[in-house]
Amino acid sequence: MSAIRCMEAQDVSMVAKIHQASFPGFFLTSLGPQFLALYYSGICEAPEGIALIFVNPGGEPAGFVAGTTNPRGFYSRLLKRNWLKFSLASVGAILKKPSVIARIARGVSHPSRNPVGDDVAGLFSIGVLPESQGTGAGKILVDAFLSEARSRGCRKVFLTTDRDGNEAVNAFYLKMGFRIERRFETPEGRAMNEYWIDVDR
Ligand SMILES: CC(C)(COP(=O)(O)OP(=O)(O)OC[C@H]1O[C@@H](n2cnc3c(N)ncnc32)[C@H](O)[C@@H]1OP(=O)(O)O)[C@@H](O)C(=O)NCCC(=O)NCCS
Repeated sequence: MSAIRCMEAQDVSMVAKIHQASFPGFFLTSLGPQFLALYYSGICEAPEGIALIFVNPGGEPAGFVAGTTNPRGFYSRLLKRNWLKFSLASVGAILKKPSVIARIARGVSHPSRNPVGDDVAGLFSIGVLPESQGTGAGKILVDAFLSEARSRGCRKVFLTTDRDGNEAVNAFYLKMGFRIERRFETPEGRAMNEYWIDVDR
């Protein structure tokens, strides 16, 4: 039987692998497995972090979801708290592509405009191994995330995803009951959709 459980320190290298397999070509992926493992450890360790694992019927982790309550400035706080480890983990990516520095620096110096509020949670990342996609794992992960957010007193959950070339993911969130409340462009020019769902019912 498949199951959901909390992500723990020993899961983060597997989560980094699932991230790499489910987000090929994304900026965070390009920073490498060490960076990803630190990123997910940071979410696991933060008191406001919500990090869950989907375990397939064979007992193997096959998906994850991660985010946080009180999302405003979370990335910036995370990077600042562990700046030395994150710097060391990004050396390889920076050597391959020096422009990566500017993007990371922006993450630290200009905290995201994530919504503010104790009653809001942000779903930052969800990934299912390609071979397990379309089997209901994503729905189980989203439902578990929403229920955890609700149990921590949140009334709403938001997330952002690419607007263009991303029909399957946008269809997935609409199917999960999210609604688009804002459209915007990142400083890098990526067109994004911001989705919201109420969890207080
Ligand atoms: C997005 C993702 C997490 C969805 O997980 P999944 O396990 O494939 O989705 P599920 O099988 O749980 O599907 C849940 C529902 O969404 C629907 N859905 C999924 N993909 C769909 C699509 N392309 N079009 C329409 N509906 C879709 C399913 O039909 C299902 O509805 P049902 O319960 O009525 O059958 C997964 O595909 C993934 O990891 N993608 C790559 C990483 C990514 O882009 N993550 C999101 C970044 S913001």
